[in-house]
Amino acid sequence: MISIIGSGRVGATTAALFMVSELDSNINLVDIVEGLPQGEALDLNHTAAILGKDVKIRGSNNYEDIKGSDIVVITAGLPRKPGMTREELAVKNADIVSQTAEKVKTYAPNAIVIITTNPLDVMVTVLYNKLKFPRNRVIGFSGVLDSRRMAYYASQYIGVSPAAITPLVLGQHGENMYPVPELSFVYGKSLKTYLTEEQYTKVVKDTISAGADITNLRKFSSNWGPASGLTVMVNAIVNDRKTALEASVLLEGEYGVNGVFAEVPVILGKNGIEKVVEVNLSPEQKEKFVKSIDAIKNNLKQVPESYLK
Ligand code: 2OP
Repeated sequence: MISIIGSGRVGATTAALFMVSELDSNINLVDIVEGLPQGEALDLNHTAAILGKDVKIRGSNNYEDIKGSDIVVITAGLPRKPGMTREELAVKNADIVSQTAEKVKTYAPNAIVIITTNPLDVMVTVLYNKLKFPRNRVIGFSGVLDSRRMAYYASQYIGVSPAAITPLVLGQHGENMYPVPELSFVYGKSLKTYLTEEQYTKVVKDTISAGADITNLRKFSSNWGPASGLTVMVNAIVNDRKTALEASVLLEGEYGVNGVFAEVPVILGKNGIEKVVEVNLSPEQKEKFVKSIDAIKNNLKQVPESYLK
């Protein structure tokens, strides 16, 4: 059984893609707002009946219903509202994530947990500290989103399918993320060799601002990208595919970093993070990576320490 906590746009779209992809025959949608998960579930059950998918979606306001889940996806949290600082959002969402973590710990202690709540780097750290699960079972979403976004933007100039590109984006999910086109490849040939200087700069810039660009255009943040990324990740786990993709994971010495969650390439399989992949970085690239890590450490100061232990 797979549970999705939070039935907003990301949660509901994720449930839809999990159902269409038949990742499990039972999908739970949990939210504290009365009627919301039940209504989404009803609509999705009708959709499953139309598409001929034998998947049952259950909507619930009761966390106890996640009992027995193999995978829990946490999408709960507030989006940033006009006039709200990042710090205010961080504190509010840290509270939501830490309460959610208590429920997951109680009712689904063996689950693999993936979180999308922003600010991602801070929230996955809060989640990890409150769950106290091993690092292979606490995963921050967004690496797959940032890296595939870069593949998309680069593909537009190169004239290949985004799927032909192995993209690398490191560090923070935010303005200090570190896209690395020179270590992203089409059949062993670096993207840097395909792009003009101007195109290279634009690919990096567009990758970093992608989430904000969507929000500015339509006045609410992305849901299709996150839901698709989660579908790829959960598919890797339920089918033990050992898929190579990017995720935010607790670094324990890899890349010379200890005790910080950051986007890096990983192998995903039935145990969650099966392996953290270390890419060789030049001294200059290492410096840029460390800068991104410093931004994450700085962001952690946005929430009271009680959330981080
Ligand atoms: C994104 O990058 C909002 O974090 C989300 O689209």
